[in-house]
Amino acid sequence: MPESNSFDDNFLREMNARQVWHPMAHPAESQANLPVILKSGHGVRVTDIDGHEVIDAVGGLWNVNLGYSCEPVKQAIADQLAELPYANIFRGVSNDKVIRLAHEVVDFFAPDGMARAFFTSGGSDSVETALRLARQYHKVNGEPSRTKFLSLKKGYHGTHFGGASVNGNANFRTQYEPLLAGCFHIPAPYTYRNPFNQTDPAQLAKSCIAALEDEIRFQGPGTIAAFIMEPILGAGGVIPPHESFMPMVREVCDRHGILLIADEVITGFGRTGAWSGSRLWGVQPDMMCIAKAITSGYFPLGATMINDRIADAFEADSSGTAAIGHGYTYSGHPVGAAAALAALAETRRLDVVGNAAARGTQLFDGMRALADQYEMIGDVRGGHGLMAAMELVSDRDTKAPVDGKLAIKVQKTAYEAGALIRVSGPNMIISPSLIIDEADIDTVLSAIEAGVKAAS
Ligand SMILES: Cc1ncc(COP(=O)(O)O)c(C=O)c1O
Repeated sequence: MPESNSFDDNFLREMNARQVWHPMAHPAESQANLPVILKSGHGVRVTDIDGHEVIDAVGGLWNVNLGYSCEPVKQAIADQLAELPYANIFRGVSNDKVIRLAHEVVDFFAPDGMARAFFTSGGSDSVETALRLARQYHKVNGEPSRTKFLSLKKGYHGTHFGGASVNGNANFRTQYEPLLAGCFHIPAPYTYRNPFNQTDPAQLAKSCIAALEDEIRFQGPGTIAAFIMEPILGAGGVIPPHESFMPMVREVCDRHGILLIADEVITGFGRTGAWSGSRLWGVQPDMMCIAKAITSGYFPLGATMINDRIADAFEADSSGTAAIGHGYTYSGHPVGAAAALAALAETRRLDVVGNAAARGTQLFDGMRALADQYEMIGDVRGGHGLMAAMELVSDRDTKAPVDGKLAIKVQKTAYEAGALIRVSGPNMIISPSLIIDEADIDTVLSAIEAGVKAAS
């Protein structure tokens, strides 16, 4: 453990949450409940300035898939910093790493039908890019009236105005309205709460698809550019749809000339126990948004992946409509690209997908067993790799959400008991690194139990 300097540590404690405004938190709440201050990470563990070491059951933020000690990625970053620390890839310039990375990610997502990559700085950028390219595709393709977007309630697509507009959770919308015009939401295949009062996943999938068809008819198919969805909804509280759902969405989109965008920012690179969420459900989308684990979180990088149908339309255009008026200073950053090349090689070498599936089952079974013991656990969702959630309630019959103070108590107690977990609203979300082993999952489960027990 690195030696701690008490003078520095007192400064950190004193200044904690004073000048940093934390994302997804009320500034006053962060000042009243000070964040833990992390200082180092090794394997699947992180250590705070008091020397308290815990398993990071959040896996960074669903992104540190290879844990904190992936030397090849660290080395690739260091080497690239020495060689070429930055280069833009706007018109007329490229670099060796981004060309190699495009080849790698196209190969990685070829089974999903992907053929081209547009690089970004993260997930929100990848979503923004996909939404823009969807509109542009229809203009290039002679259907300029297709401008609207459909998405799922409970879906999370980052926080840019485009992403927030297709976002399906009021927490991320209300204070930022008015949002983008022309975005409409369909009920999510969320068995625990839905407007159809339906608990059967297959039936619920059908009802949601009927609502999708209804909305398309109402809006007019010729006005809709794309439908965007997470193959398994993540930040909304880990909501895996029935296996029939995404294939049915694909069929409906095809029938109405609507593009399907899979937001794979969480589900890409093995988290679900398949290499992508789309592959888990046997669907080929038109575009995929990826980020997070592409560098195992070690460098901010993302990409929007594009299939042949869209690529062909853009590349065949001679009118100029297909010129891309979109991009980021850090699109194709050589350090990010080098990090991603190394992370992808390690991801494949370690075959993390198999471990994600096995450990995911262990985690989900363990969480369900806890639900049999503690009334506070209203619902447990997961079962597809290393993404699982518990929805905490104050009353199982009314499903009233747990009090916010109790949710904080669960998180704090679990931390003291050895696991950093995330409680977002009423949902405890667990998404550890994909290299986690069996004994560490047991530790996570016992820390969760300690948290729930203390708050029950
Ligand atoms: C499905 C999904 N899309 C987009 C985003 C936004 O990514 P970022 O926070 O890197 O902008 C996230 C982040 O969690 C996400 O889960």
